[in-house]
Amino acid sequence: MDIFTHTWSLLVEVQFYVIVPFIFFIGFALFPTHLQIPYYFVLGMIAYLHTESQNSSENTYQKLENDEKEDYSMPKETNETNKNPLLILIFLIASFVPIEIPSEILRPGITVMTGILMVSHRKSILESRILTYFEEAAKLNRKWTTQDVSLLNVATCEYDNDYGNWWGYCKHRGINATTGKYRIMTIGNSYAASHGNLFYQECGHLAIKLSQVTFPACEPLHTIPRKSCVYSVARYEKYVRDEKPDYLFIISRFGLIGNEINTTNIEDDSIFIEMKTQIKKISDSVKYKIFVMNQIARPKGEMVHKMAEVVKEHKNLTEFDIANIDKYPKFARLRYEKMVSGCPKCELFDYNSQFFNETTGTWRFYDERNSGLSYINQQLHLTPHGLELIRPVIRGLCRRIEKGIK
Ligand SMILES: *[C@@H]1O[C@H](CO)[C@@H](O)[C@H](O)[C@H]1NC(C)=O
Ligand SMILES: *[C@@H]1O[C@H](CO)[C@@H](O)[C@H](O)[C@H]1NC(C)=O
Ligand SMILES: *[C@@H]1O[C@H](CO)[C@@H](O)[C@H](O)[C@H]1NC(C)=O
Ligand SMILES: *[C@@H]1O[C@H](CO)[C@@H](O)[C@H](O)[C@H]1NC(C)=O
Ligand SMILES: *[C@@H]1O[C@H](CO)[C@@H](O)[C@H](O)[C@H]1NC(C)=O
Ligand SMILES: *[C@@H]1O[C@H](CO)[C@@H](O)[C@H](O)[C@H]1NC(C)=O
Repeated sequence: MDIFTHTWSLLVEVQFYVIVPFIFFIGFALFPTHLQIPYYFVLGMIAYLHTESQNSSENTYQKLENDEKEDYSMPKETNETNKNPLLILIFLIASFVPIEIPSEILRPGITVMTGILMVSHRKSILESRILTYFEEAAKLNRKWTTQDVSLLNVATCEYDNDYGNWWGYCKHRGINATTGKYRIMTIGNSYAASHGNLFYQECGHLAIKLSQVTFPACEPLHTIPRKSCVYSVARYEKYVRDEKPDYLFIISRFGLIGNEINTTNIEDDSIFIEMKTQIKKISDSVKYKIFVMNQIARPKGEMVHKMAEVVKEHKNLTEFDIANIDKYPKFARLRYEKMVSGCPKCELFDYNSQFFNETTGTWRFYDERNSGLSYINQQLHLTPHGLELIRPVIRGLCRRIEKGIK
């Protein structure tokens, strides 16, 4: 059998094709024929034992799954590993005492063995990491959508509604008022709820009190014309006035704030006027600083289930990215930037370098290098993978608060 061809097709999948030609080249050039197979065997064993020595046999995806359960305990060790001494022995014999099997026996043999494998439900072989890369990503992308509500529920939150829901006012439990220094608050639509655990993890130790206010689909700076949002702009403001935070974060995905600006002067735009009035009121109740999330593109939620597939099938991702955008953030960014420039306590922070791919010039909401794992779910909330992507931004802001930035 031609080891090189078989190895090659696997390597292209897992992106190791830079190293492998050298491994084979060294094998051919330096070793006499009878030592070549043992050479490959030893390299294989080193790789295998190295993988086993990593703490758990779990791959990235399983770690992510543990995260999403809002469970901060260590991933459990599984039982599947370290019971392959028999397998190692077989490979050892085959490597050092090579017996050539005639192809009349080998071919039907392989066919029968493959059949046995397929019906035997041996998870460890057929569902190996390499074979299931894309399947796993697609599965997680679906799962993060079905688990939307539990992902928005913040483990440490004590909510003020009686329904056991993730919206309204929340005061985080487990905040140490002895060691903490600041009153820190986040407000915004469900995007703020999506950030809840992250804030607890990154800013929690700095807080005397950490709170969060979320009204689903209602923005704090502009009234969305729907029944549930009619009073929410005023309510957000009232919560901030009662809380008197030292630091406030406004984290809200744009709705109508992204609409085209019709007036020649942005100062005359009705949406901008409301934002400006509102930020002024809010600003009066904040002691030091307001960090305002700038806007990124709005993707189409229904495309999430295609992400792993287009990456797997090497589709033209630039085209996919373009088809994936529901609304570009140009006008939302103009309004936010103008508003912040007129608000001395305000400062923008941005996820554009996380979600805008400079190479292709497109907004991209999945991780090409991780089999198309999605950063957002169908409800456009950040997935655990997306939260890890933006964590450094929030961590950076919390560090600055820690230094007492005014
Ligand atoms: C392995 O686990 C130990 C203790 O559980 C930990 O200290 C170490 O950092 C882990 N190593 C890796 C590579 O995860
Ligand atoms: C591992 O397997 C042993 C025996 O099959 C069992 O007693 C034990 O509970 C298992 N441990 C875990 C962590 O599943
Ligand atoms: C808060 O921190 C102090 C000092 O580290 C510690 O003594 C106290 O037990 C902590 N309180 C809580 C509720 O964790
Ligand atoms: C801009 O004009 C269009 C059509 O004239 C209108 O539908 C839209 O509501 C206007 N947008 C704003 C923000 O006024
Ligand atoms: C992908 O599509 C874009 C836009 O249609 C095009 O400019 C680019 O050349 C395509 N890339 C490939 C590799 O086909
Ligand atoms: C940007 O897109 C290119 C082409 O698809 C890809 O190779 C690269 O990894 C992407 N960059 C990031 C940061 O994802």
